[in-house]
Amino acid sequence: VSVYLVGAGPGDADLLTLRAARLLASADVVVHDRLIGEDVLALIPQHAPRYDVGKLPGTSHSQAAINELLVDLATRYERVVRLKGGDPFLFGRGGEEALALKGLGVDVEVVPGVTSALAGPALAGVPVTHRGKSFGVTIVTGRARDGAAVDFRPLANPDLTLVILMGVARRALIAAELLEGGLAPDTPVAAIERAASPDQRVRRGRLDELGRLEVENPAALIVGAVADLELGLLARYGAFAEA
Ligand SMILES: C[S@@+](CC[C@H](N)C(=O)[O-])C[C@H]1O[C@@H](n2cnc3c(N)ncnc32)[C@H](O)[C@@H]1O
Repeated sequence: VSVYLVGAGPGDADLLTLRAARLLASADVVVHDRLIGEDVLALIPQHAPRYDVGKLPGTSHSQAAINELLVDLATRYERVVRLKGGDPFLFGRGGEEALALKGLGVDVEVVPGVTSALAGPALAGVPVTHRGKSFGVTIVTGRARDGAAVDFRPLANPDLTLVILMGVARRALIAAELLEGGLAPDTPVAAIERAASPDQRVRRGRLDELGRLEVENPAALIVGAVADLELGLLARYGAFAEA
């Protein structure tokens, strides 16, 4: 028995890997998260049962119950696809699911996906490591295990780009800590909402305005000198809205 832990990319089926698309098309059963695009789900064969185990932030569709479901399905179906948004191992608890399955004797194959942490900025026209502006990118969550806060002060580095996932609710606190850590108040920030969907929207501003910037979930936040770059790319998704 085996389970395929598949990255669904940021939303649009065009951004799936070929391996992901092939596995979806031949799946016997699919267990998926909440932020999976409709056109991605449309690739699943009609006869294959689908389980939506999407977890709203702060609610409990317990991870233990998901693990149990996966193990149960793995004993009943040949090809179980566990579909997760973006990349399965960038947040989203893919590692925990893989460990739980392995521990119960189920083989797991991981299929990397295009993560929103990189696709979001790219689709907003932001190259996260633009030469001369940033020598690296740090991807971090705004919400640690059990809702605990992440300390952003040590992450304040004007030479690095920060990409923050799950940071919308705490953006005022995050900005305050980054300012306390030494980032300049006029450090550019951007928020990419619903990247790779028809409703994609880009908000831009300064770090000292981040708390007041109107941002809706799901969004990837960018902090750093690259965030106000505007390359004038063709926009495939949504509209480029300025704050
Ligand atoms: C639990 S994490 C999962 C990340 C996922 N594994 C990935 O690689 O993109 C969920 C967070 O990812 C970000 N996210 C996911 N899809 C997004 C999208 N289409 N546009 C912007 N942000 C997205 C949001 O910050 C959201 O709160």
